[in-house]
Formats: sequence, C-alpha cells, structure tokens
Amino acid sequence: MVDFIADYFQNIESYPVLSQVQPGYLRANLPENPPDRPEPFETIMNDVQTQIVPGMTHWLSPNFFAFFPSTVSTAGFLGEMLCTCFNSVGFNWLASPAATELEMTVMDWLADMLKLPELFMFKGSGGGVIQNTTTEAILVTLVAAKNKALTGVGADGVNKLVVYGSDQTHSTFAKVCKIAGISARNIRSIPTTLASEFSLSPFELRTVVEADVAAGLVPVYLCLNLGTTSTTAVDPIEPLARVAKEHGMWVHVDAAYAGSACICPEFRHHLNGIERVDSLSLSPHKWLLSFLDCCCLWVQNPDALVKTLSTDPEYLKNKQSESDSVVDFKDWQLGTGRRFKSLRLWFILRAYGVINLQAHIRSDVRMAKMFEEFVRSDPRFEIVVPRQFGLVCFRLNPDEDYGSDCIEMLNRKLLDWVNSTGRVYMTHTKVGGVYVLSTAGFLGEMLCNCFNSVGFNWLASPAATELEMTIMDWLADMLKLPKSFMFQGSGGGVIQNTTSEAILVTLVVARDKVLTGIDADSVNMLVVYGSDQTYFTFAKVCKTVGISARNIRSIPTRVVFNILEALSENSKVVAIIV
Ligand SMILES: Cc1ncc(COP(=O)(O)O)c(C=O)c1O
Repeated sequence: MVDFIADYFQNIESYPVLSQVQPGYLRANLPENPPDRPEPFETIMNDVQTQIVPGMTHWLSPNFFAFFPSTVSTAGFLGEMLCTCFNSVGFNWLASPAATELEMTVMDWLADMLKLPELFMFKGSGGGVIQNTTTEAILVTLVAAKNKALTGVGADGVNKLVVYGSDQTHSTFAKVCKIAGISARNIRSIPTTLASEFSLSPFELRTVVEADVAAGLVPVYLCLNLGTTSTTAVDPIEPLARVAKEHGMWVHVDAAYAGSACICPEFRHHLNGIERVDSLSLSPHKWLLSFLDCCCLWVQNPDALVKTLSTDPEYLKNKQSESDSVVDFKDWQLGTGRRFKSLRLWFILRAYGVINLQAHIRSDVRMAKMFEEFVRSDPRFEIVVPRQFGLVCFRLNPDEDYGSDCIEMLNRKLLDWVNSTGRVYMTHTKVGGVYVLSTAGFLGEMLCNCFNSVGFNWLASPAATELEMTIMDWLADMLKLPKSFMFQGSGGGVIQNTTSEAILVTLVVARDKVLTGIDADSVNMLVVYGSDQTYFTFAKVCKTVGISARNIRSIPTRVVFNILEALSENSKVVAIIV
C-alpha cells in the first residue's frame, strides 16, 4: 500500500486529470455480490490499479485547475494516519480528553493566526470547533439563530423568519435553510453586479431587510461571503454586520476557501469588522494543506450552540461534564461521534510554522497572478472579474462584434475540448449572465487520503461514486434487504458521516413530502414518533428540521408494540423511528 501511494504521487501527472470513463464503467466490471471468502490483498490492490484508478478524477494532480483546490501535505497525511490509528470517538471530554483539548488549542492557534479577537477563542469568551463541512457549520449556527429568534416570536412563528445572503452565496445555503425549516419564500438572495465585483451592498441589504420588517417578518440570519465559489467575491463585513445587528440578526461569514489567505497580513483586511459577527467558518481542506473534510467554525457565543444542540442521555453523564468544567463537542455539532481531526491541523501547524503556511498561500497567489498576466497579454482573451486570490475568471472573447450567445458557445467548446484532452481540468461558472472559465488550484485510512477525491458528483470522481453504489448493494445483499433498497433494484444507498445525518436527510424528505399535501405553514401539526429508547440525537435532529418539541413522541417501551395506537388522528405522521 505504501509503495502504491508513493508511486501514485510520483506518477500523478501521467494520468488523465479528468477521468475519461463513461457512466456505469465500474458497476459493469464488479460482481453484483460481495465475495463469500477472503481475497488476497494483492488481488484487491490489482483491482485498485486496473478498475479504480481509471475512474479517478485526480484532485491532487498539478493539472487540476477546477473548482477550488483540495490541498494536502505530508504533515496532514501523517496526522490523519494517527487519527485513524487511535480511532478515538471524542464526543465529550471524557471520551477523549486529548482530542477535546487539542482541538481547543488548535482552534485558538488558528484564530490567533487570523488575528481574530479573543471573543472567538477559548482563551476569551468564545471558541471553535471542527465540523465536517461548511454546510454543517451553517446548519448548526442557523438552527441556533432560529431557536433564539423563536423564543421572541413564539414557536409557531417559524414562517415569519427571514434569512439573507447575496445571489453569490453558495447553493448549500438554500439547502441548509430548507433543512432547518425556513420557508423558501423567506430566503432572500440579494442581487449583486459585476460593477461591484459581485459583493453584497449594505444599501441593498438595508432596503430588503426594512421591507421585510415593514411586512411584519423577522430577520434572523445573514450569511456573508469571504470568497465566493464563482469568483471569490468578498462581502464587506463591517457595514453589512452593522445593518444586520440593527435588526438583531445572527451574522455568519462563510470563508471556506479564501479565509485561509487572511493568515497573511496583506489579506487580513478582508476580516475587518469580524468582531461584529457571530460566527465564521473556514475550511483548511481547501487551502491550508489539510485533508478533506475539515471545516473550522468559530463562534462568539458557544452557549447559543450548546443550548440548541446539547443532549444529555444517562449513559453519557459524567462528573466532568456535570461540573461544567469541560467542553463536550457533541453539543457543538449535529452528530455525536467525531474523529480526532485536530491532529491533522496540529501536525500541519507545527511542521510548517506560520511562516511557511503564509509562503504557501503567497506562492499560489503569485502563480494565479502570473496566469492572469498571460491572459491579459493575449488579445483573444479577457479577464471577466478582477482576481483577488488564487482563482482567475476569464473567457475567450476574440471579437467585440460576436454576440453573447456566440461567445458563450465558443467558450463552452473551448472548455469541452480542453477537458477532453485529459491534460488539464478546468470548470466554468455563470455570473451576471456571463459564461466564464475559471482556474484555481495553483499548487505546490491511506488510499482514500492518497486520492483525496472530492466526489460530490459522478464526474468529480466516477470511481468513488460507482464503488460506493457497488459496496452499498453488496452490504444490502449481505443483510438480505429487498432489491427495492438496492441500485440493482429501484432504490439505493449512500454513506453518510453519522446516524444523525442519516436521520436528518430522511426526516427532511418525510417532512417535505407531507407538507406538499397540506399547507406549508402547517409544520407545527407534524408529529414524529420513537420509543423512549430511541437514540438521543433523534430529538436534536427533529429540532434541527423544525419539528416542534411538543410533537416529538417518545413512547414508553412497554407500549412500543402498540405504537400505532399512539398516533394522533389530528396530526400528520412524518416518521416512525424503529
Ligand atoms: C464558499 C463556499 N462555501 C461553501 C461551500 C460548500 O462546502 P461544503 O462542501 O464543505 O459544505 C463551498 C464549496 O466549495 C464554497 O466554496
């Protein structure tokens, strides 16, 4: 395995960076059922080389310029190996004191590198926690903000709550709002323009918020961008947070990619006004050499998270937690189990030191600048949006007389051609109605880390998608599940991080299915059922998706077999957890 990994890194440039396989290539080559008897390691590794590698889009290739980079390092790799080695599940302090305290230390160190005020640090009055993704960071802060707001407007006032972001905010924001039970008609996506480099205008925000307040609605959450996915646009934190705070909103800054640049003094001004916001998230897996997935979330008021997300089952009770002298990170996140991810960051911070991490950011920015200058020097191309960090947004524009449709078609063809060579992988976006090519990623459990694949869709990693489908069917087969749960049949399976997430996504589907049959405002009629033995995060998940606490039935186990008798005739049943 170690030889395979070393050879992979040595030869990574020789692979087509964007996998050239067709959908279904792997599923057709793997058996429908898992082997009954063990297979030799060599046979498995041979299949990795012949079956998996051709379906990999090589995220670590120096020819990968798509999306944002997904950076790694030897130090991060070693930290990850140790994390896997310990396999610690540090949901509370007692379950792994080292994991909890190292995470607190590393989060304070990173906050210090970003020159965040002590308001965000454990050594001050706040603190930070490692979430898996930005999506989860936004989800937990939005749910905390929602619950705070509901204490003012009453539990039935959820349909009055309004959230705000720009039209450049990552699409995950709308998904998170939906999960949290914010009505789609109350999600404001405020337009931005090329003239303002796609940053959100405080004036526009004020106009929209004041109109909502006049209509009797309640502003609850503002999601700001420090580096949007399309063009790395930055929203001015200070004036926007001022507007939001006049209306008592929770302000979150999504700095998933570009936040890392703020460890360099020349980029730190993008965080000006950060003391006015409630939370900030930044993903070191994007630009600080850490492996996927690792999203750092800092909050000024941890109590708001803990109040919303804490759980206290009998089997987790312990002296230290009860004495309030420790941090229990399970109360800062959705799920319970958590990995010892701070080891990765600790290794990186110590092995590189701040100076070398700054040099790494600057080197990437220098290369992006060089590419930008090449583009500018070629009259056939133009820079569409001024570059701020390591992402360059440009397009082919050979003749001013070409209509916009024709220019878009030319650029689509160019991108298809470039990507079909397998030599370079770039992506596109559309901003202000303009089709733009973008390049980023100017870069300086072992196999999974080795590939560091980010397989969010089939194309981003065909092998990862098709292997997951195959394995899920294999496991279903071993459990003798009916075919209706398999890809071979009409269903299918997916690997989530935690049971809590599995319950969350299914509950949201159930909730929205029932709500389409009745009025969307009737969320307070929905009732969910479990026994008093149901895993304790069920209640937390219900709260997250907006099921009223008074509608969560925890049925004494002695009558669990009569559960149907407990169903209220006046309510819509959303889910029964067995
Ligand atoms: C600015 C920004 N926010 C949010 C996300 C979503 O991140 P995640 O997959 O960690 O939820 C991305 C992903 O690229 C991003 O670039």
